[in-house]
Amino acid sequence: MNRDQLIDACGRHWNPSAALMYRLAHRSVESHASGACVFDEDGRRYLDFACSYGVFIVGHCNPAVQARVLAQVGQAPAAPYGAAHPTCAAFMRKLASMLPGDLSRVFFANSGAEVSEMTMRAVLAAQAPRRRIVVIRNSYHGKTLGALNLLGQEGHRQPFLPLMDDVVFVPFGDIAAMRKAVGEGAAAVFLEPILGGPFLQTPPAGYVPSTAELCQRTGTLLVADEIQTAFGRCGRMFAIDEYPNVRPDVVLLSKGITGGHSSMAVAVFSETLVQRIDAIPGLPARFLASDSGGSPFACAAGLAAIEYIESNALHERAQVLGTRLLAGLRRVAERYPALVLDAPGTALMSGLKVRNPAVETAIAAGLSRLGVHAGHSLNEKAPHPVLRFYPPLTVTNEEIDEVLHALDLVMNGLSRRAIWTFDVSDQLVRRLYQLPPQLLYKLAGVKPN
Ligand SMILES: Cc1ncc(COP(=O)(O)O)c(C=O)c1O
Repeated sequence: MNRDQLIDACGRHWNPSAALMYRLAHRSVESHASGACVFDEDGRRYLDFACSYGVFIVGHCNPAVQARVLAQVGQAPAAPYGAAHPTCAAFMRKLASMLPGDLSRVFFANSGAEVSEMTMRAVLAAQAPRRRIVVIRNSYHGKTLGALNLLGQEGHRQPFLPLMDDVVFVPFGDIAAMRKAVGEGAAAVFLEPILGGPFLQTPPAGYVPSTAELCQRTGTLLVADEIQTAFGRCGRMFAIDEYPNVRPDVVLLSKGITGGHSSMAVAVFSETLVQRIDAIPGLPARFLASDSGGSPFACAAGLAAIEYIESNALHERAQVLGTRLLAGLRRVAERYPALVLDAPGTALMSGLKVRNPAVETAIAAGLSRLGVHAGHSLNEKAPHPVLRFYPPLTVTNEEIDEVLHALDLVMNGLSRRAIWTFDVSDQLVRRLYQLPPQLLYKLAGVKPN
């Protein structure tokens, strides 16, 4: 399949607006990948600082992880639900040994949305009659119908309203708002310890511990969504490791968990919470089970990826390399304040907060032309989206410098354009998303099926 045929197939069978973007931006088509690099069908190399928003944490096609995955495929890639498999047991034991307190009960699924939803069911069951769930505005916990209730990004929820009416959204970092929303006690607080997505934001000092203390005092369950932050991305194995006294009741993990070798998500519950759930009469026996989640294949990948991170101290490396990356991004923010408002983040979870989505697209497209992939938010509704720089934790100083050099060239070029052109193209792109599908097909050069 050549590039044109591939884009045509994507337009027909998947997403005509994405196909149009691929065509207009002359986006490359990925053929293979290794370490921090992906290669297109012509063999051109791109540095992957998007990493599917943090999935390829140990580098693409990490040979150490691949060897373990292949060995597992040869033995038993899948096992019936409920079968005790040594690879899965070793993986669960490993997670429990890494997490604080009595976070030791592992519930498997395949996607982040599933574990968010599974956790909603658990907290509503355990905390009945309490039903109020407190969520951070602009947070992201997945898009299945249940998880949508918790989605802090309004645009995703709007078409499906009315949703659960007992969900309260509060601004990230505002402890007074959190206190007000929790009141005498809610069922749960769902919190990304570092707010990810297109709104990347680190918390003010004391915010996470104060929220944890509030939850403990009011009997509110604390759910830490570490789907983006975990396994070294933020310079620690988990973002909550920064706070020795913070003991969430549930931790959600996915994305980097297998280094991109298999899809997997887990909700790790405290033993105390599971005991409370177990004591509830009338709950179906397999109330939190997933038949396809947690296969030996996925667990082998997870175990190998985590051991690779540990043995190479990639989380510590992320801290050091992240300082270099973030310093470079901050220089860009200082030099081009009309286009770049800030360079938020920590370690290798960083980005550029930009003037508007058109600026984000212009920088991402410019970088792509110079052989760099950055994590485009694909969020035309965020007023000032963050273009993310989430390289694999195996990235080198030289690769970071190469990206910063490319960024300098791109910004230099963009700064010569009149600012109003970005504002106008921002309005045009917003309208593009609202075009009728038939017109999109036409623009994308795709014949509808
Ligand atoms: C913090 C967070 N939670 C949940 C999710 C949902 O994960 P999934 O896309 O696998 O459903 C994501 C995905 O980006 C995420 O970043």
